[in-house]
Amino acid sequence: MQIINTVCGIREAINAWRVAGETVAFVPTMGNLHAGHLQLVNRAKKSADRVVVSIFVNPTQFGLGEDFEAYPRTELEDQEKLEIEGADLLFLPSVSDIYAPDVKTIITVTGISDSYCGSFRPGHFSGVATVVCKLLNIVQPNVALFGLKDFQQFAVINLMVRDLNIPVEILGVDTVRESTGLALSSRNAYLTQDERMKASALYVSLCAARDAILAGSQNYEDIEQKAIQSIQKAGFQADYFFVCRSSDLKKANLDDVDLVLLVAAKLGKTRLIDNVYFSK
Ligand code: PAJ
Repeated sequence: MQIINTVCGIREAINAWRVAGETVAFVPTMGNLHAGHLQLVNRAKKSADRVVVSIFVNPTQFGLGEDFEAYPRTELEDQEKLEIEGADLLFLPSVSDIYAPDVKTIITVTGISDSYCGSFRPGHFSGVATVVCKLLNIVQPNVALFGLKDFQQFAVINLMVRDLNIPVEILGVDTVRESTGLALSSRNAYLTQDERMKASALYVSLCAARDAILAGSQNYEDIEQKAIQSIQKAGFQADYFFVCRSSDLKKANLDDVDLVLLVAAKLGKTRLIDNVYFSK
């Protein structure tokens, strides 16, 4: 696996593949790789001739007082995992490789970026959209893969790619979970042993709400309230739990068929998000 730090270096390496007629799949990450990330790499291998992975802890998507400094950085372990998984190229830029000191351009996908996680993390999705747009411009992949665990992020990226006519196919990959149901996340590293045991309550609440809807329950507000009560009982401080339609993440009406349940909650100092999507 090649490891490249600079934008010029990446362009050169990828251009050589293009000249040879090879297609490129791209998996952007912030590192501290777990089986969820590796599943994206695995799917990427099946989607193109070459796989590029980036590791970049993007400062612009962290708010004031969030965990940018503390975010787990495990580059050597990550490199080993990517070698084993069969990635072809690791792009490992520094902040100054990505952002000019007087950067003037920010991408905001309006509307969808303000709700749910966006309302608890102002500016977060602009940071995500901006860095993903830049990374797509640098790598220029045929296909880019993102986890559906970050369902709102996936929706924001899809809208940005559509609205800016970025020539890339975006693929969503299912969430990888621990046997308890807890969705794998780099932030799980912050959980104490005790919190980790409690954390599966998030997925349990999602499944219970989904099952209630599938069993015919039509009072979505009641379902949301019960879900919030159940995660609070497990020790979480709930940010939100909403029944949404998956096409545009608006709150679901009773005649919407394709739904996603979105939840975010804090356990101690750790903020976790999760979702389940299904059709009625
Ligand atoms: P990061 O949290 O490192 O996640 C990188 C990719 O892995 C994202 O597409 C995310 O949805 C996916 N992922 C995370 N946990 C997963 C799981 N348990 N199962 C499946 N996929 C999972 O998301 C980001 O980084 C950043 O916002 C980024 C898109 C790289 C922009 O900076």
